[in-house]
Amino acid sequence: MFLQKAWRTAAFGVYGFTQFTKSGFIEHSKKFKEEDMQIQMEGKNCIVTGANSGIGYATAEGFASRGATVYMVCRNKERGEAAQSQIQSNTGNPNIHLEICDLSSVKDIRTFVSQFSSNDKPLHVLVNNAGILENNRVITPEGLELSFAVNVAGTYTMTELLVPLLEKASPDAHVITVSSGGMYTSPLTKDLQFSESNFDGSQQYARNKRLQVALTEKWAENYNNKGIGFYSMHPGWAETPGVAKSLPGFSEKLQGKLRTKEEGADTVIWLALQPKEKLVSGSFYFDRAEAPKHLLFSGTARSHSNIDSIIKDIRSVCGFSS
Ligand SMILES: NC(=O)c1ccc[n+]([C@@H]2O[C@H](COP(=O)([O-])OP(=O)(O)OC[C@H]3O[C@@H](n4cnc5c(N)ncnc54)[C@H](OP(=O)(O)O)[C@@H]3O)[C@@H](O)[C@H]2O)c1
Repeated sequence: MFLQKAWRTAAFGVYGFTQFTKSGFIEHSKKFKEEDMQIQMEGKNCIVTGANSGIGYATAEGFASRGATVYMVCRNKERGEAAQSQIQSNTGNPNIHLEICDLSSVKDIRTFVSQFSSNDKPLHVLVNNAGILENNRVITPEGLELSFAVNVAGTYTMTELLVPLLEKASPDAHVITVSSGGMYTSPLTKDLQFSESNFDGSQQYARNKRLQVALTEKWAENYNNKGIGFYSMHPGWAETPGVAKSLPGFSEKLQGKLRTKEEGADTVIWLALQPKEKLVSGSFYFDRAEAPKHLLFSGTARSHSNIDSIIKDIRSVCGFSS
């Protein structure tokens, strides 16, 4: 067990330093096709969570520059408005809307979705981007560990509640969840709120991101006939406010080697633009290609068989009927 964990960390480090940095992006981009990104998005409604900063901002701007109607879901009005007007002025697209919602609150998400759904418009793209790596154990007013609340409960609740609007955009709906290569270091675990051992923020982040990958697999299976494609992805290691705040040592060590936020958003935008026939629903993507969900000899694959009982627990925590 200890050896396997050490192996996972070492393998992740080597994979990361060679592939997830800027040089990895430059190398992989030699295979990118320019025409893949030359697709317009007029008439498409897109939600991007955590759109005021980093990869979410670059994603929202990428959609806006292609003519999409973009709904930026942000928790802070001032930061949201600043990003909204920046995107409007950079792209000339007036159809950029700001929705205030704290994604660590299931109640807030339910209110947001209920209001958003009242117009009954189809939702073509949902990007579950908002995410955090919180180094301390913080409990939300709803009693959830904060990282779990945002990364898992928030992502799950948002996606499940928006399925009816996504169905309206069928067969053209895409749900893209911004996971992380950090998930390679963890199997799927049932201890959702990290209450069975001393809290470790990086480990909890890896567990959450692993769970996003497993949830995506399950959504693809459950909603197979609804005309919605579900994809998880890794953006690579990009220089963003989130990384600078949560991982200052990492950020400093890799100064000049990290990707830009636009490079981090590249595969999110690519996934949203590609016809579903070109993609595999339930898969994990990195640099515009399907990527493995498990590193060799890492012992994480079997853990995905626990997903059904884990979903049962998430549903209970998030107030869904079983
Ligand atoms: N950057 C990387 O190297 C990297 C690598 C792997 C995966 N990722 C993933 O990429 C995604 C974006 O991260 P980033 O690096 O771009 O970081 P970032 O700049 O910190 O962006 C995160 C966004 O999520 C929002 N957010 C956090 N908690 C929220 C909440 N409770 N309610 C609503 N919004 C909330 C933040 O809002 P505030 O501005 O208000 O805090 C911000 O807009 C995350 O899911 C992250 O795990 C990033």
